[in-house]
Formats: sequence, structure tokens, C-alpha cells
Amino acid sequence: MILVLDFGSQYTQLIARRIRELEVFSEIRPCTTRPDEVDLATLDGIILSGGPSSVSDVDAPAFDSAWLSLGKPVLGVCYGMQLISALNNAPLHTGARREYGLATVSVTSQSPLLKGFETGERITVWMSHGDHVDAPPAGFTLLGQSDSVPVAIIGNEEKKQYALQFHPEVVHTPRGIEILKNFIFDIAGCTHEWTAVDFLESTVAHIKESVAADGNVICGLSGGVDSTVAAVVVNKALDNKLYCIFVDNGLCRKNEAREVEESLGKNGLGLNLHCVDASDRFLSALEGVSDPEQKRKIIGRTFIEVFEDASRDIPNVTHLVQGTLYPDVIESVSVKGPSATIKTHHNVGGLPDRMKLKLIEPFRELFKDEVRRIGRQLGIPEPCIQRQPFPGPGLAVRVLGEITRERLTVLREADAIFHEEVLAEGLYEHLWQSFAVLLPVQSVGVMGDARTYEQTIALRAVTSEDGMTADWAYLPHELLRRTSNRIINEVRGVNRVVLDISSKPPATIEWE
Ligand code: XMP
Repeated sequence: MILVLDFGSQYTQLIARRIRELEVFSEIRPCTTRPDEVDLATLDGIILSGGPSSVSDVDAPAFDSAWLSLGKPVLGVCYGMQLISALNNAPLHTGARREYGLATVSVTSQSPLLKGFETGERITVWMSHGDHVDAPPAGFTLLGQSDSVPVAIIGNEEKKQYALQFHPEVVHTPRGIEILKNFIFDIAGCTHEWTAVDFLESTVAHIKESVAADGNVICGLSGGVDSTVAAVVVNKALDNKLYCIFVDNGLCRKNEAREVEESLGKNGLGLNLHCVDASDRFLSALEGVSDPEQKRKIIGRTFIEVFEDASRDIPNVTHLVQGTLYPDVIESVSVKGPSATIKTHHNVGGLPDRMKLKLIEPFRELFKDEVRRIGRQLGIPEPCIQRQPFPGPGLAVRVLGEITRERLTVLREADAIFHEEVLAEGLYEHLWQSFAVLLPVQSVGVMGDARTYEQTIALRAVTSEDGMTADWAYLPHELLRRTSNRIINEVRGVNRVVLDISSKPPATIEWE
């Protein structure tokens, strides 16, 4: 296992992801973690991440320097490099010259870390730092330098400690993966073994151990890939003990509730699934509400009530399954505490407290594509694996302003047309999300010879790796033309279709 100690860099999770792409298990822990909190027997190497602080800040993140005396290989990245240098009494240049973006580093010396690179070779790297090191600390050799920083790569071959001023984990450092491979396989001695099969075996065994013989487990199934794969994994481990509940909140897409029941229930994946139609309860609670956060709160609260009611008849429930992914927990692992709340995404947050349930979250450490790999391994059909993410509050955050049954129907029909066209074009699985939004705007049009004054649909399609940043997708003009024609002709109440061409940031993916 490679342990990544997180000093708060926006790229920390990418480091873990790259390592797992190389089929080596890796875990991220806050930088404050002490060595005695980790199973050192399974630890092959340690990576110290980048971070926004300066080593010389009075409130610099706490770090137990014992990590550097364990005899385990260490790789410092950016802040990690400055930390290793400072702990070895090397002079640090603080804040004098900030550098963000592409840079060129020349390899100055051979090292196992740089296997495959020639001395004198110049490589393109991504820098993002305020501080830098002026000279290698005692015991370390200079392995690379850039035009702007005299020390870009250092190594202490005897202690197997290395550090990079740049970020090897980002795609802008094209040969960064080779450096990571050298560290992981040649220096830390890992072998390829973290695969979906290993993960499944160990997770199933762990779940079996954690639930008592007379205990039962419930799962709120949304039909999305995360909760579905989580339910199938738990079902594999616990067979008759898992009860899945699908709550139809009246905010689903066209035909969604029926499709979920068909594909996941007894006649589909064989889960023990109870569908609860609570549309009336949700829609009356939402009556007259336009504020997005208010909508989320009401939906979250109502969900808890409905879920509690639905699970009351299930005997001795001790655990709740959630398909939480790594990006969902990233805020809570950050060093400086949670970042600003942009949207309260996690709508089932109150459930375990109130129902006194323990959580089973098999994918807390994983990314969506990893969960998809596991789902495939379990034989879950491709349309379910490839399903785009859908927000917990459903169409409530896509009907902008007040939610009524009529407005929901307009949006459902328009969204279904866009979905059909995107599928037909073969683009669905290449897009992170593609959907329609109903705007609270009416505009003038002409249909036949008559004036119309009707509603507006916005089309939103984005590409993204993890939903944290996103680009608006380039859709073929023909697809857009067909979609717009069909929506205006087939959906009563819409006379205008617009395309959203905003990236995240500064926009968000959903409009509310
Ligand atoms: P934003 O709109 O913040 O969305 O760019 C990022 C991702 O999160 C989804 N999303 C939500 N998911 N509850 C959820 O479960 C929510 O309240 C929520 N709001 C946004 C969004 O669809 C995108 O994939």
C-alpha cells in the first residue's frame, strides 16, 4: 500500500487515483495522521502531497516527522518537497517567486527515480508553488533543475527519500506517470495487485464480518451507479439480509421509477427492492418554494421521514448502505476543515444519526470509474454502469423557481427528447451529464400565424472526470438542431431552446 498524506492540495486525490490506475492500492489520510495509526506492515511507501500552505507559516499543517525515520521510501511533491527540505534544515525561499503553469525541468543526474530519463534531458512539467528550495538538504543529491527554480528534483538514495517541486500526477506533466511508476515499483517495491477482483473479495469479507448474525441492512437505492453497485456488493456478502428502498419523490425523470423497479428488482438484478411512491408528500412539501437550498432541505427532510416509515417494518436493522465516493468525502479530509458550502449535496446526511445505524460505505476511497469497474466485474448491465450521475433532489433543481406538476411534465418531456437524441448519436457515455433545464422565463414566439408567449428549455451537456470541474461539451450542430426542433414541436408550452456554454468553475453543472 502507498499512503498519501494530504496537506490540502487540490491534486491530492489525483495522486491516489494514478497509483490505483497502476493497480497498486493507495489510501489518503490527513497529514496529521501519526505512524501508529497505520498498519505499517502493509505500508510500502509514503507520498507527501502538495498543499496551499507555506512550511514557514505559523499555522502550517502539523506533521509527525517520525514518518521520515521509518525506513520506508518517501516521495515529497511540491509542499512535500519543501517540508522534507525544511526538516533537513535546507534554506527555503518563501513567496519570492510564484510559479504556476508549465515549466521545463532538466535532468541533472541519474537515479532510480528517473529510470528511463537521460541526463541533460528536458521534460515538461506542471508547477504550482510559492516557495522553493535553494539548495538540496544535506544527504540529498540534485537530480533536476528548472529555469526558474534551482532545485526541482532531489533524492537521498540511501534513505530512499525523494522530492519533486512539480506535480507528477497531473496530465500537464506528461511523463509524470513514469516517475510515479519508478517510485512505486522500483523504489517502494510494490507489485500490481489492486484490481477490482481483490477489492471485491476483501470488501465482501469485511462486510460479512461487520454485520451480526441477527442484524439486517437497509439501502436507499436511487438507481444510480454508486448505490446500485454498493447494494449488489452488500447483497453478495449478506444475501437475505439486505432490504433496498427506492423512494419515488415525484422528481424523477420520465419512466425512471418503473425502469428502476424493472432493472434492479426481482426480475432484474434480483435485489430485494421496495418501491415507495411518495410523490404527493414531496410535491406538497415543495409547494410555493423557489429557493434552491430550501428545496434541498425540504427534500432531504422528507426523504428521511419517508425512508424511516418504509423501514419501520424491517426487523432489527443495524446498518445503512451508502454509495459514498471519495469526491463526496474529500471535504471532510481536508486539512483546514470543510471548504465553503456551495450546494448542500448530501441529502441523506441525517439518516444514520436519527435511526442510530452504522454505515456501510464500500466505496469511500474510490472514484466513479473505479466503481464502474467493480460493477462490470459483478456483471451489472452496461446501461446501469454507464448511467450519468443524477442529483439527489432530482428535477427539483432543474425546474428553476417554483415546482409544479405541470412544469415537471414539461421538463420531463423535453429531457427525454434530449436524452434520446444524445443516445442515438452515441454520445451518452462520453458525457459526464447531459440534461434539460426549465427556465423561469417566458418569451414571445410565433407558431403557425399566432403569437406565443411560452417557456424556455436550456440544454446542458458537460464533460468531466469527477464533477468537481467540468467543461461544456461540443455537441454536433445536427444533434442540437434535431433536439431543438423536436422539443419545440413535441412539448406543449415550450417555444424556445437555448444552449448552456458555461464551464465549472465559475458556473456549476446544475443550475440550482
Ligand atoms: P454542481 O451543480 O455542484 O454539481 O456542479 C456537481 C455534481 O453534483 C451533482 N449534484 C448533486 N448531487 N445532491 C446530489 O446528490 C445535490 O443536491 C446535488 N447538486 C448537484 C450534479 O448533478 C453534478 O453531478
